[in-house]
Amino acid sequence: MTARCRPDQGTAKLALRFHFATTDLPMTSPDSSGTKKRIFSGMQPSGEAHLGNYLGALRRWVGMQDDYDCIWCIVDQHAITAGGDPSETPGNVLDLAISFLAVGLDPEKAIIFVQSDVPEHTELAWLFNAVTPVGDLERMTQFKDKSQRFDSIPAGILNYPILQAADILLYKADAVPVGEDQKQHLEMTRDVARKFNAAYGETFPETEPLIAKDVGRIMGLDGEAKMSKSLDNTIPVLAEPEDVWAKVRTAVTDPQRVRRDDPGRPEVCNVFTLHNFFSDDATRADIDAQCRAGTIGCVDCKRRLSDNIADAFGPFRERAAELHAHPERVREVLDDGAARASAIARETMAEVRDRMGLDWRSAIG
Ligand code: TRP
Repeated sequence: MTARCRPDQGTAKLALRFHFATTDLPMTSPDSSGTKKRIFSGMQPSGEAHLGNYLGALRRWVGMQDDYDCIWCIVDQHAITAGGDPSETPGNVLDLAISFLAVGLDPEKAIIFVQSDVPEHTELAWLFNAVTPVGDLERMTQFKDKSQRFDSIPAGILNYPILQAADILLYKADAVPVGEDQKQHLEMTRDVARKFNAAYGETFPETEPLIAKDVGRIMGLDGEAKMSKSLDNTIPVLAEPEDVWAKVRTAVTDPQRVRRDDPGRPEVCNVFTLHNFFSDDATRADIDAQCRAGTIGCVDCKRRLSDNIADAFGPFRERAAELHAHPERVREVLDDGAARASAIARETMAEVRDRMGLDWRSAIG
């Protein structure tokens, strides 16, 4: 099913530069039977990807594509769990698709598609309602947080993890690369699989979460919360160099450093954490020493970070510009991805319907 890999110099160079860590994966691949393990992951479309998406997920996904049978999904139905703006959703999906392709997700190596193009996701989610206790859904941390924002809580907020379980199990994924914040949703997915298998016979695997160990906590530029577009504490991956600088310039550094010659503590500085991803060893050692000695100011340190981020994102901007000029290429990729995802989804659903007795014709014989 996976097409031949195309040698991609650009990606290989970036891979080196960003020290892609795939060593944290517990599974060897391909497995002893010679088939690759299947990986599924999803991202909500809220427009162009940002630095947090890139460091926390996309960078890692790109590095997995040669070793695993990968499926990358733009989860537009999750994005409208509580409604959403119909005039913005299509553009947000297109922009995220362009970001996916620009950073190096590769349709020749992986399936890239949009959730709502494969209606089996919602069909399976409905059937999973039968094996999911409401109490478990109400105990989810994310539900408790999100539900507080509503006077009348949309059922979608409660049922969100069921759709996520359906996303993953529809493809019988062996593993899912996710951030720490998704651990509970993966646990729920495993519960759903276990309960379904117990009630209707062995059908689904117990999917493993692949939580990156090397990334650590990457804070937003405000130094207060996780990077998110809505908090405006991040940088779009396709930002022009001057826009990267406008953002990096505002980043919060070691609060104990007030004057330029105050000695700094790189280990508590979020800007220094970002240097870990974008600057080479010599630069980091130099900045570390000068920051502690109070001989480099935060502005100079940020300038170097900003230049390195803008350089690293350069190839992404080029690829994105090309795709913006030829959106029909994006459509082709997503249409093809949906067709390939559908083929797998239909197979799983035939099995699930059979197991659940949704085949009235069998009563006639
Ligand atoms: N809940 C995930 C998030 O907010 C997005 C998501 C939806 C997902 N379905 C998924 C992630 C399936 C992994 C696998 O980040």
